[in-house]
Amino acid sequence: MALVCAALAVVGCGERERESGRTVITISSSVVGTDGPLLRRQLDRFMQLHPNIEVRLHRVSDDATQRHQLFVQWLNARAGDPDVLELDVVWTSEFAAAGWLLPLKDPSIDTTAFFPGTLRACRWAGDLYALPWYADVGLLYRRTDLVPREPRSLEELRQFAQRAGDRVPFGIAWMGARYEGLVTVFVEYLGGFGGEIMDDSMNIRVDGPEAVRALTYMRDQIVRWKIAPNDVLTWHEEETRFAFQNGRAAFMRNWPYAYAAMADTAQSRVAGRYAVSPMPAAPGGHPTAALGGAQLAINRWTEHPEAAFRLVAFITAPAQQLERAVAIGEFPTLRAVYDDPALRAALAIPADDARRAVESATPRPVTPLYTQLSEILQIELHRALAGQRTPEAALADAARKMNAAIERTGLREYMSGRPVTSTR
Ligand code: GLC
Repeated sequence: MALVCAALAVVGCGERERESGRTVITISSSVVGTDGPLLRRQLDRFMQLHPNIEVRLHRVSDDATQRHQLFVQWLNARAGDPDVLELDVVWTSEFAAAGWLLPLKDPSIDTTAFFPGTLRACRWAGDLYALPWYADVGLLYRRTDLVPREPRSLEELRQFAQRAGDRVPFGIAWMGARYEGLVTVFVEYLGGFGGEIMDDSMNIRVDGPEAVRALTYMRDQIVRWKIAPNDVLTWHEEETRFAFQNGRAAFMRNWPYAYAAMADTAQSRVAGRYAVSPMPAAPGGHPTAALGGAQLAINRWTEHPEAAFRLVAFITAPAQQLERAVAIGEFPTLRAVYDDPALRAALAIPADDARRAVESATPRPVTPLYTQLSEILQIELHRALAGQRTPEAALADAARKMNAAIERTGLREYMSGRPVTSTR
């Protein structure tokens, strides 16, 4: 222990323990909607069950891309805090390949209990590095008092949004800031026009005609039809939710958490006046929901791997997943929880539809290079949406740079499953 402390003096080894006399671990969490109080309640219960462990919450940014940068700085510096990491589904392979996560090998883990799609992003090179915590699927929210019914095509979405324009300032609200959220919105329009980011052979397809149509449609919402305000180019999840919740938009693209958060009449002007449906498609495309969500992993530099694992197992267990779904509407990643009668009334959509939505949602590419590829794409998408470039030129450049990144780093080799030490 003394040796380890000397090696890790730079990160203050042992200080936390000296303060409380208990094993102290920390967990990172971004807190959107009513997430914070729920997590604190669960941590309190965990501490009652494990009186020798104290868990502290390390709050991090709600912006997925800023959060990623912070994690890279910590882990690169070999900081053991936070011990338990809340990871976006698109980071795990990158962090595992960099050697920053402990493989999870505890025999109590039943991987068959999770949806295969949510588990796939937890694995790298044959090992398991995280457990799925909750699943996010993109949903189209609509004001039931302004919109006659769910739109069945992207053309109808435009029409309904335009018609609602004389009663609310914005036809539609979405997250268009230059960060990961923008890519998730694009994935849905892209699928809606029949395109994809990368095909099964790892060929980049963001410069295909479907992608150009998808980005043109998004840009037209802002520039041509003026149903989305220019402000979307700075919005993340919460700004988008506030626009809709304050009664300023007829439609909104957001994740399931917003459903329960907007039901509170004390804060929401639209309580009782909204519903959700899948994002519609154009002819030749298919309704597409991006698969998002969070996983819990253990920091490779933790001093308390056992306590950290207990916490991961506790938070991802059925009782806590069910409580999360009931309290804040987030979708469980354990299949059996969908059979629980208590879940039926809890979600934005019937439990069976939610189960199908998770099973059929579109994942973003699972690769250690994902962040690099996404950053390239974010920049070009945002330029086109801001009117600085045409969608064609922006996407052609994105594809060229993404292909160059793949060539430079040998993505195909990574994807064959050979462990790598660093992707940067
Ligand atoms: C949500 C999703 C996550 C996604 C992020 C983008 O947090 O769960 O997967 O990357 O939003 O903003």
